[in-house]
Amino acid sequence: MTPSKRTARIIAALDVEKRIDAISLVADLRGKVSLFKVGSRLFTAEGPGMISEISDAGGSVFLDLKFHDIPATVAGSVRAACGLHVFLMTIHTAGGYDMMKAAADEAAAFADRSGLPRPKLVGVTVLTSMSEEDLAEASGYGGSVEDLVLKRAELAKKSGLDGIVASVKEAGRIREALGDGFIIVTPGIRPAGSAAGDQKRIATPRDAIEAGSDYLVIGRPIYQAESPGAAADAILAEMGESGK
Ligand code: C5P
Repeated sequence: MTPSKRTARIIAALDVEKRIDAISLVADLRGKVSLFKVGSRLFTAEGPGMISEISDAGGSVFLDLKFHDIPATVAGSVRAACGLHVFLMTIHTAGGYDMMKAAADEAAAFADRSGLPRPKLVGVTVLTSMSEEDLAEASGYGGSVEDLVLKRAELAKKSGLDGIVASVKEAGRIREALGDGFIIVTPGIRPAGSAAGDQKRIATPRDAIEAGSDYLVIGRPIYQAESPGAAADAILAEMGESGK
């Protein structure tokens, strides 16, 4: 399959603080988007009950808490997230091989024990809000963002993760190096005419699909729109496929 023929789907980021706002976004997007990101903002404010509410409303949850800790702690967090029945979750690749392997083993053990599908694990590589200069300042790393993202993606695959989170700028190289079955999740998506905000490595929905992305995480361009439903429709049209 060539990258441009892949079917990509939107994950709407529910980056709001109130349960009522999250649920109203899920309702506004009914029939257009069925995957929703619960990140640290909503999870910290409203707790795990949010996840069952979204499921009850017919959505599937991408739990983006970017676990990054010692292997035993991350394994415990993954076990807890599996119990919440999310379909996708993030850990941070900067935690290294042992941490990612412990997380992947834990998700597999959950599936064996429960007979339920194994939630997919994706590794955050380098935040899309970081430029090369930001990365050098924060870590002392002097190479390119793209090289580091690829290195971390390779390690994620070796550790048993299902995929990674990266910007569209790196997606093409990752797809080429790691093959079709590896999940690529791309945030930093900005439809034509929308504001970048704090994101630095941004691209359009069409670029994301052409680069081989499987899931486009879209926050502000949808939840800050006057009509989130209309904004989602416009993005789906730009994607040229159902995307639901
Ligand atoms: O509002 P915007 O579309 O920029 O939101 C992007 C979403 O993707 C946010 O929820 C952010 O936490 C998430 N994300 C990101 N970069 C990563 C991983 C996740 O922007 N590397």
